[in-house]
Amino acid sequence: MSEIFSKVSQIKDKIISEMSSVKDEASLKEFQEKHLSKKSELSQLMSEIKNLANEEKAKFGQCMNEARAAVNEAFQKKAQEINDALIAQKLKRETIDITLPGYNYKMGGINPFYLVQDEIIDTFVSMGYEVKEGPDVESDYYNFERMNIPANHPAREMQDSFYINPTTLLRTHTSPEQARAMDEKGGKPLMMICPGKCFRRDDDDVTHSHQFGQIEGLVVGKGITLANLKGTLELFIRKMFGEKREVRFRGSYFPFTEPSVEVDVTCMNCGGKGCPTCKGTGYIEILGAGMVHPNVLKMSGYDPKVYSGFAFGVGIERVAMLRYGIDDIRKIYQGDVRFIEQFSRK
Ligand code: DAH
Repeated sequence: MSEIFSKVSQIKDKIISEMSSVKDEASLKEFQEKHLSKKSELSQLMSEIKNLANEEKAKFGQCMNEARAAVNEAFQKKAQEINDALIAQKLKRETIDITLPGYNYKMGGINPFYLVQDEIIDTFVSMGYEVKEGPDVESDYYNFERMNIPANHPAREMQDSFYINPTTLLRTHTSPEQARAMDEKGGKPLMMICPGKCFRRDDDDVTHSHQFGQIEGLVVGKGITLANLKGTLELFIRKMFGEKREVRFRGSYFPFTEPSVEVDVTCMNCGGKGCPTCKGTGYIEILGAGMVHPNVLKMSGYDPKVYSGFAFGVGIERVAMLRYGIDDIRKIYQGDVRFIEQFSRK
């Protein structure tokens, strides 16, 4: 009766080889109906059992079970493959692009006032200067008296300001920070700069505003001379304006320095020919400077016979205007995006 056994084996192999033509859900279903139902060729063979001798029956049953299990296993494997392929296809078809384009944030610019202020601070810090801060609301005492400008001194006229009360005002310059720095140092040598806002009743032309920025500088020590002042300022100006710009030192007067100078750079508007921006002079003043007046040293507890020093006050907007060719100081304050954007870090 080994015939029937080999028949089972043949049918099983045939069914399994047919499996290779199953490629999709439909043919899988067809295959299932054809080969895994009660009416399948394989199941039909079961009816042969009655023709077998008793001792063969159990063996035949086992053989049939193994064949069915093999077909079933092959079917399950195929079904899994087809299902996986379907899922993969579906995933591919339904892919969502989760990478939204980012928001295009508008990059602002840096106001040229701060670009210049930072650069000036960097320049002096690299030379070893300390950076100080002083109050915007200042006493008459520091703003004027300590700067050798007593009450009724004509120099007060040029620095008319906004008074909070008769002895307190919005500081007219950063120079009072010289006195504050010397008070703090208690008679020892010092090198400092102090950036800050200043206020004056002053808006009569395109290079003046009622509020403006200055950077004060002060060096006090033994043997400090005008040569030190000139060398320091020349280095600073060359750094800000390069080699080509013409710079001139001009004798001047400030009550808190002796001798005093003003430093001018050729006008950004006319290049030195003379125009309304530079009031026809071809130059724009950027700073006042001088050797610290003996009275200022004395009031701060320094003996002028032992100590000397130089000081300077740089107008930040003036430097920005010259540096970037800005023809009207008000542009720096108006916050017009078209203006500021030109100074974008991009
Ligand atoms: N404080 C002066 C002003 O605002 C500028 C100035 C001149 C400052 C000479 C100084 C200096 O330190 O030595 O007009």
